[in-house]
Amino acid sequence: MDEQLINLTVEKFKTEFKSGPEHIFLSPGRINIIGEHVDYSDGFVLPAAIDKYICFAVRRMPQTNFCTIVAKDLGEKYTFDVTMEVKPVQQMWMNYILGVFSQLQKPENQFCGMEIVFSSTIPMGSGLSSSAALECGFAYILNELFDLHLTKKEIAVIGQKSEHTFAGVHCGIMDQFASVFGKENKVIMLDCNSLDHQYFDADLKGYSLLLFDSCVKHSHLTSGYNERRRDVERGKKVLWKNFPEIEKFRDFTLSMLDRTKEEMGDISYKRCLYLLKEIRRVEMAAKAISEGNIEYLGTLLTETHTGLSTEFEVSCDELDFLVEHALHQEGVLGARIMGGGFGGCSINLIQENKAEEVIKAISEKYFEHFNIQMKIYQVKISDGIKEYTNEYII
Ligand code: GLA
Repeated sequence: MDEQLINLTVEKFKTEFKSGPEHIFLSPGRINIIGEHVDYSDGFVLPAAIDKYICFAVRRMPQTNFCTIVAKDLGEKYTFDVTMEVKPVQQMWMNYILGVFSQLQKPENQFCGMEIVFSSTIPMGSGLSSSAALECGFAYILNELFDLHLTKKEIAVIGQKSEHTFAGVHCGIMDQFASVFGKENKVIMLDCNSLDHQYFDADLKGYSLLLFDSCVKHSHLTSGYNERRRDVERGKKVLWKNFPEIEKFRDFTLSMLDRTKEEMGDISYKRCLYLLKEIRRVEMAAKAISEGNIEYLGTLLTETHTGLSTEFEVSCDELDFLVEHALHQEGVLGARIMGGGFGGCSINLIQENKAEEVIKAISEKYFEHFNIQMKIYQVKISDGIKEYTNEYII
């Protein structure tokens, strides 16, 4: 829980709307230990919710049809009529919210006005899924306030669809799933095909996961991400044309892939090669965590980085630099770019008592080379979206 974030959000609510909120919700960001870009390709992923949140202060306004939302950190405000059809707007942050609302606007769901202020400790554009926290947080709020009887899975899927339809990113389900299903000290092993999932103890035996934020905002994420999806779809088509008996993408073998290389072309081949190897790496990583083989987990993380950089091509100079230099440090078992790519954070598996030295060395080198002060996030694995009702409510 983040008391300072809650206090500031509530204070802003009071100045904006003249009295206090009725509800407080916290919606977390996520890390992903391994399994990048495989959530839209039948893979498994190993994400977890973290102790960085969007805090929503909320009040129902039964006497009006207007919903006013204040984005405290951006200094922006938007009002819409809950009885009118909603469409995408200029303010990107609002599209995540409207995309959710549009799916729930049905005759059986009766909404009234609302007043909402939100503020966040999830850095934006750093690959920690602030957008999923916003979408799923809003869907969760509507579910609680208006008794919509949505399941947690439905909330995650609504969040994902909002991103597709109103924000234009054809993302997988990982981020939304982690934000909704997160559990304290547990990593989620999610089968992105069936949405079956299990929780693993996040016991890293004296090692911790540290995030180094390159402070390069992933501004090409939307176009780059959608382009990668198109490359992959082209590859999949060729694979299925040649091997129609295979049911799931994950069941293609590397030798099948090799046999279709010429027909699918270099780009789609590289993308599919990365994905098939990554799907297998996640299974090995889950086994390594459950057996306490943290060294091997580190090796797998680093292999993922190499794949993301050279085969899937979603890294950038700054992240390649951070990873390469981290791996030269004593006590670092593995490192890789995390999330959709094109900037954001690296995730580093570091011996706890070496962390300070590693941070110092990498920050200095990074600043020397790029003139950028990297940020460090030491995150705790936390619960998914929750309501806080206690002393903060006036
Ligand atoms: C973004 C997307 C996710 C996932 C990751 C890459 O975070 O939103 O669905 O594809 O990139 O693993």
